[in-house]
Amino acid sequence: MSPLNCWILGCCIALLLIQWKRMSLKDDDNEYLMETLNKFLVPRWLGSTGHEDVNEFLVEELTRLGFAIIRDDFFDVFAATNVIGVSNMEAKQFLLLSCHYDSKYLETKQSYVAATDAVPCAMLLTIAEELNDFLHQEFANSPDLGLVLAFFDGHESIDGDLDPSPSLLGSSNFVRGETIALNKINLVISFKLIGAADQIYMSKYQRTYALHERLSDIEQELRISGDLSKCHQLFHKLKDHNNDINDDHICFLEKGLPVMHIVPYTYPEVWLQEADNLDNLHWPTIRNMNLIIKQFVYEYLSNRTFRAY
Ligand SMILES: *[C@@H]1O[C@H](CO)[C@@H](O)[C@H](O)[C@H]1NC(C)=O
Repeated sequence: MSPLNCWILGCCIALLLIQWKRMSLKDDDNEYLMETLNKFLVPRWLGSTGHEDVNEFLVEELTRLGFAIIRDDFFDVFAATNVIGVSNMEAKQFLLLSCHYDSKYLETKQSYVAATDAVPCAMLLTIAEELNDFLHQEFANSPDLGLVLAFFDGHESIDGDLDPSPSLLGSSNFVRGETIALNKINLVISFKLIGAADQIYMSKYQRTYALHERLSDIEQELRISGDLSKCHQLFHKLKDHNNDINDDHICFLEKGLPVMHIVPYTYPEVWLQEADNLDNLHWPTIRNMNLIIKQFVYEYLSNRTFRAY
C-alpha cells in the first residue's frame, strides 16, 4: 500500500472511531447522568431551599423531555409536592417507575445528601433522556401505552433523628387520590438506595419474579455484548420474598398492583450517614444499573401487549 493510501485509510478509521464514540455517548449518556445526579446531591428535606431547587429542576427537565407534568400537592407541616411526569397522557395503560426526591432531615448531620436516594432520581431522568426518541416514536404509534415517572415527596419522616422509619406520605397521597387511575397502572417499579458498592438485588415478590429473572438475563446479555462496566453481578435469580422493607411501593401493593422493588439485599453501610455522598458511590454499579433498567424499560414498552402478572 502506498503511503498516501495508508494515510487515507488512517483518516477513515479515525473518522469512524469518532463517529462510533459519538453514537455510544448518545446511547449511554454518562455525562447527563453525572450532571443530573449533581443536581440532587444537596440536602433536600421538606422546607429547605435544596428541596425547592430540586423540585424546580425536576419540573424543568421533565418538561424539556416532553413529559406532561402533574404536580400532586399535599401537606406534611410543610408544603410537599409529588412531581409526576407522564409520557402519553391518553394511554390506556402505564408502566410506572418511582423514586422519592426528598432527603431526611437529621439535626446532627445537616450536610446529609442521601446520595443512594439521589441515584434513582438521576437514573429515571437519564432513562427518559436516553429513550426519548423511542418514547416519542413508540407512543405516537401506540396510543394504548404510556410511561409514568413518579418522583415522590414526603417519603421521609420529618421527625429527624428520632424516627428512622419513612412516612411515605407522597406515595400514599398518590394512591389515595389516584393521581393516575390505579386500574391503568400495569406495573410499578420502585427504586431505592442504589449506588453503594458490593450490593446485590434479589426478587421481592413472586408475582413479578419472571420479570426479575428477565432483569438478570438482560444483565448477562449486556455483559456478553461488552456493554457493561467491570462490576460484580447486580441482579441474582434469588427470591427474597418475605423480607421487604417499607417503601413507596407498599401502598400500590396493598391495592393489588404488581410491583417490583429494586432495592439492595442489605442496607448500604452509609445509610443515614453523611458518608452517603458522591465519594462513596460506586460508579460501575450505577452505570450498569442504568443500562440494565433502560434495556428492561425499552423491552417492556416494546412488548406492547400488556399481560397480567
Ligand atoms: C418481552 O416479551 C418476551 C416474549 O414474550 C418475554 O420473554 C420478555 O420477558 C418480555 N420482556 C419484558 C421486559 O417484559
